[in-house]
Amino acid sequence: MKKVILAYNRVSPEVITQLKEDYEVIYFEKNEYLDDPFFVQTLKKASGVIGLDLKVTKELLDLAPELKIISNVSVGYDNLPVDELSQRGIMATNTPDVLTDTTADAIFGLLLAAARRIAELDHYVKSEQWNELLPPHLFGMDVHHKRLGIIGMGRIGQAIAKRGHFGFDMEILYHNRSRKLEAENWLNASYVSMDELLAESDFVCLMVPASPETKQLISHEEFKKMKQTAIFINGSRGQNVDEDALYHALENGTIWAAGTDVFTEEPLPAGHKLLTCKNLVTLPHIGSSTAETEHKMSVVAANNLQAGLSGKLPPNLINKEVKLNR
Ligand code: GLV
Repeated sequence: MKKVILAYNRVSPEVITQLKEDYEVIYFEKNEYLDDPFFVQTLKKASGVIGLDLKVTKELLDLAPELKIISNVSVGYDNLPVDELSQRGIMATNTPDVLTDTTADAIFGLLLAAARRIAELDHYVKSEQWNELLPPHLFGMDVHHKRLGIIGMGRIGQAIAKRGHFGFDMEILYHNRSRKLEAENWLNASYVSMDELLAESDFVCLMVPASPETKQLISHEEFKKMKQTAIFINGSRGQNVDEDALYHALENGTIWAAGTDVFTEEPLPAGHKLLTCKNLVTLPHIGSSTAETEHKMSVVAANNLQAGLSGKLPPNLINKEVKLNR
């Protein structure tokens, strides 16, 4: 009998077809299904789960006695209780590397858009307000030769720094849990304290993973430490920023502008106050969302799943300490 795979939310159709050769794959288009009896029934017999951003809780795991592996189609894994999975002998995997450049492109795009007011001026043209020379109060801010501060110098942070350093002659500052000596060399990046980074950067770009330690890492105090001309970019997770503080920093002119791809609640609820900020560029969490990269992520996730279910170590195992219950 084929093992059962519960697939949900954004696994590419080609990959589903390929998985069906070896497994019984049951696909759900969304991932909020605990009140759906068919989802629960599938979970009960699933050996593997593959998809994007399923909120995995103890309650969900209690309903999945056969589960051996959860294969995230994302690099982030804040949806997974990693220690709990390890204790239960369930492997967890993610999809690093394939999305690094795509995500860095998107986040650098956000930075450019915020600095040069691209979204705002697109609206200006399309709403037929362009009937004179652009008034100076709508001028943007230079990016080239400015100072880019990156908080979280992982793979994507470094790829953003690379764009800034080689493409835009920017000076790179960074703050990270550990020094990245290689990046210091090839990107001429300077390791600085958080306070120094906030105070000295023209662009502050947040790229840390979400964890209890990074919850609301950027709040009122941090915005106050930034330059009044600073542009703040969040390409990490919404919960890493106090959105109330961001709103006030933008409205009161504590900083000049911001761009964010992520929000505490996604999709952003109707009527959210950040929607009224003209100096905020928003994206609907699309860092890795190009057709090519989404497909590559599905392939990597499927490889992880197949390795895990055939008794091998998945290439992108997150919880290396897992005591396999095979
Ligand atoms: C996207 O946010 C990811 O974690 O892959």
